[in-house]
Amino acid sequence: MYPNHIVFLLFTLLVYVFPSPAISNYLIGVGSYDSTGPAAGVNMMGYANLDQSTAGIHFRLRARAFIVAESSEGPRIAFVNLDAGMASQLVTIKVLERLSKRFGNLYTEDNVAISGTHTHAGPGGYMQYVIYSVTSLGFIPQSFDAIVTAIEMSIVQAHQNLKSGSIFINTGDLDNAGVNRSPSAYLFNPPDERSRYPRDVDTLMTLLKFVDGTSQKSIGAFNWFATHGTSMSKDNTLISGDNKGAAARFFEDWFTSTATNSTTFDAQDDINVLKEKAAAIKATGGQPCGKTTSQGFKVRKNADGSKFVGAFCQSNVGDVSPNVLGAFCTDTGLPCDFNHSSCHGDDQLCIGRGPGYPDEIKSTKIIAERQFLKAVELFTSAKQQLTGKIDYRHVYLNFTNIKVSLAGGRSGMTCPAALGPGFAAGTTDGPGAFGFQQGDTKINEFWKLVRDHLKKPSDYQVDCQKPKPVLLSTGEMFFPYAWAPAIVPIQILRIGKLVILSVPGEFTTMSGRRLRESVKQTLISNSGGEFDNDTHIVIAGLTNTYSQYIATPEEYKQQRYEAASTLYGPHTLLAYIQEFNKLAESIAKGHKIVNKGPSPPDLSSVQLKLLPDPFGESPPPGIEFGDMKDDVSIPKSGFFSKGDKPSAAFWSPNPRYDLLSEGTYAVVEMLQGKRWVAAYDDDDFSLIFKWNVYNDSSYGLATLEWEVPDTVSNGVYRFRHFGSSKKTIGSAIEYFTGASSAFTVS
Ligand SMILES: *[C@@H]1O[C@H](CO)[C@@H](O)[C@H](O)[C@H]1NC(C)=O
Ligand SMILES: *[C@@H]1O[C@H](CO)[C@@H](O)[C@H](O)[C@H]1NC(C)=O
Ligand SMILES: *[C@@H]1O[C@H](CO)[C@@H](O)[C@H](O)[C@H]1NC(C)=O
Ligand SMILES: *[C@@H]1O[C@H](CO)[C@@H](O)[C@H](O)[C@H]1NC(C)=O
Ligand SMILES: *[C@@H]1O[C@H](CO)[C@@H](O)[C@H](O)[C@H]1NC(C)=O
Repeated sequence: MYPNHIVFLLFTLLVYVFPSPAISNYLIGVGSYDSTGPAAGVNMMGYANLDQSTAGIHFRLRARAFIVAESSEGPRIAFVNLDAGMASQLVTIKVLERLSKRFGNLYTEDNVAISGTHTHAGPGGYMQYVIYSVTSLGFIPQSFDAIVTAIEMSIVQAHQNLKSGSIFINTGDLDNAGVNRSPSAYLFNPPDERSRYPRDVDTLMTLLKFVDGTSQKSIGAFNWFATHGTSMSKDNTLISGDNKGAAARFFEDWFTSTATNSTTFDAQDDINVLKEKAAAIKATGGQPCGKTTSQGFKVRKNADGSKFVGAFCQSNVGDVSPNVLGAFCTDTGLPCDFNHSSCHGDDQLCIGRGPGYPDEIKSTKIIAERQFLKAVELFTSAKQQLTGKIDYRHVYLNFTNIKVSLAGGRSGMTCPAALGPGFAAGTTDGPGAFGFQQGDTKINEFWKLVRDHLKKPSDYQVDCQKPKPVLLSTGEMFFPYAWAPAIVPIQILRIGKLVILSVPGEFTTMSGRRLRESVKQTLISNSGGEFDNDTHIVIAGLTNTYSQYIATPEEYKQQRYEAASTLYGPHTLLAYIQEFNKLAESIAKGHKIVNKGPSPPDLSSVQLKLLPDPFGESPPPGIEFGDMKDDVSIPKSGFFSKGDKPSAAFWSPNPRYDLLSEGTYAVVEMLQGKRWVAAYDDDDFSLIFKWNVYNDSSYGLATLEWEVPDTVSNGVYRFRHFGSSKKTIGSAIEYFTGASSAFTVS
C-alpha cells in the first residue's frame, strides 16, 4: 500500500467514527462464516483445468450475509455474497431446507439470494449438473457441506444480530479494475448504443453502508462491481477469494484494525477447543455447533464483540477481465489476434496480464486494493439514506422454450442449452484445450464425430442455436444425469430505491446495461412516483443457480467464448429482459406473482462421486505429525525484514480430516512478554499455508510461508501449524500442533 493511501485511510477513519445520526428505519443484521472447504487434492471450480487441484490456502473463503426487514413482522430479504465460483442450484435447495427447519417460512427461495463472487480458486464439486463437475470427478460432499453450512451460518448470525438501523447508498466510478476481454464482440453492438457509454466495460460501483441505530457505528458494507475473479491463473493451486475476497479481507481488517484484539496464545487450550468442537459436531449429527474457536487463533472482532462484515459482490461480469494490461502472445510478446484472441491460430498462447504481471498474487492484491480503496471512499462519504418498502419477487423459468417478441411483429424462441466451440477455446484469462478458437463458427469432422458419439444434437437444436454451431448439446444430454440446467430462477429484491436483479449467470457488459435500463423504465412507468430516475438498479451476478453466459444477440453473431457459452440461443437476453420486466411490473404495481414456474430438480441422490476421501495415515517412523521437517532458515544478517519470506515445513497429514472451519492451519505468533500471541493466520494475505504429498506417501508436508508485511511490528516471531489426522478411515480424529524456532523481524 502506498503512503498517501495510509494518510487517506487514517483521515477517513476519523470521519466514520463521527457520522451524523440517522433515523433508523429498518431492522438490519450482518453475518459471515468460513466456507473454505477441502485444501488438498480437490479440483478447483472455474477454469475446468484437470491439473488444478487444491494444495493449500492463500486466504480463506467466506459467506457474508446481510438481512434487511421492514419490521419484525414485515417483509424481509437476505442477501449472501459467497466466495465461490458461482451459486449452485443444489446448494440453494439445501440451504433453503435448513433455513426452513430453523425459521419456518421467514427465509425462502423468494427472499433469499445467494450470489457467487466468481473466484476461480475455490474447491469444486458442489454443483449438480454434469458439465460443472466433469473435472472434479463428480460431486464432492466435503466442498458442498462447507459451502452450505457457511451460507446457513452467515444467515443465522445476521438473523440473530437484527437490530434497528439505517442503510446508506453511494455510487462511484472505478476505472482501472477491469477491461473487456472480448472487445471485438462488443463492437458488434450498434454504434449509436455504444456511443452512449464512455467505455466497453461498466465502471460503476454501488455500495451499501449499514449503520447500527443505537451506537451509530457501521456494522457492514456490501458493494457491487463487475470484474472477473481471474487474477489468480489456471495454474494456481492455493485456495483464494481472488481479487474480491482479498478486497473484503482488506476492508474488514481496515475497519477492525483499531479494535482487533488478539487473545493470548496457549497451545493446550487450542487442542482442547478443537476436540470440543469435533465432539460437538458429532453430537449434533454433523451440524455446526455454533461454538467458534476463541483462544489462540486470531479472532477478527471489534472491541465490543461485534463483527464488521465487508463484502465485494459480483455484477454483469461476463466479458470483464481483471487482467487490465491486455492479452499478449507468450511466444512473441505481441498483442493477440483481435477477433479470435489467439496467436497464429493457437489459443493457448494468448494470455491476459494483470497489473502485477508476471506475479499473479501481486495482481490479485492490486486489483483488490483498487476495489477496496474505492469502497472506503464510497463508504466514508455515503450520505443518501435508503427509505421505502422492502419487497421481492421470484419465479422459475423453463428456458428450453420461452417465446419472445422480436422487432417487426415477429417472434422467436429460446432453445435447449448448448455450447459452441468458442466455449472449448476458453478465454484470455484461461485458454482451453483441443485447438478450438474463440469466434469459431464451424466444427471440423473429427470433433463432429466425437460430439455425435456423446450426443448428436437434434435438427431443431441445430437450427434454433444458429449462428452458434453446436459442439455440446448439453440441454439434450441426460446421461448419467442432466448436463445443464433447463429451469433457472430470476429474482428481484427491493430496498426502497435500490433494486437488485438476481441473475443466474454472467451477463456481458452490454447485456447488463440493456437489462438494467429496461427494468428501470418498467418500474418508473408502472408506479405512481415510487420509482424515478434516482432509482438504483444493481445486477447481482451468478446468483441462486448457474447457467453460464448471457451475450447480446449482436455479440452472439461473433461466437466468442461468452456467446458460445450463452446456453439458450440468440434470444437468451431478450427472454431475460421480457421476464424480468414482468417481475418489475408486479413490484411497481404491488401485484403478487401468480405463476411461480416449475421447480428445478434436486439431483443429490444421483450424483457420481469418484474422488475418494483420504483413508487414514500415520507419520513416517520416528516422527510425529507437527514435527519440523525444515526449520526457519535465518539469513546471514540474523533477522528478517519487510518483504522477506521466512518459511518452515512440518510433517503433516492430509488437511481434509478436519477443515478447521473458523480456525486455521497456520499461525505466525509474536512473543509478547513470556507469551506467544497469534499475529497472522491463514486468512491473512501475507501468510500462505501449502500442503503437498511427500514422496508419494499418504502423509505430506505443510509449508508455512510468510511475506513479512509493511505494517509488521519489530519483534520475535515463530510459525505454528495446526492439523488433524486419522489412522484409518474409521478411527477417531486426533489433533496436533507444532511450532518452529523463533526468529527476529527488524
Ligand atoms: C484484549 O483482550 C484482553 C483479554 O480479554 C483484555 O484484557 C484487553 O482489555 C483487550 N484489549 C482491548 C484493546 O480491547
Ligand atoms: C474482425 O472481424 C471483423 C468482421 O467480423 C472485420 O471487419 C475486422 O476487420 C476484423 N479485424 C481484424 C483485426 O482482423
Ligand atoms: C421444459 O420445457 C421442455 C420443452 O417444452 C419440456 O420438455 C420439459 O419437460 C420442461 N421441463 C419442466 C421441468 O417443466
Ligand atoms: C437520469 O440519471 C442519469 C444518471 O443516473 C442522468 O445521466 C440522466 O440525465 C437522468 N435523466 C433525467 C431525465 O433526469
Ligand atoms: C523419500 O524418497 C527418497 C527417494 O526415493 C528416499 O531416499 C527417502 O528416504 C524418502 N524419505 C522418506 C521420509 O520416506
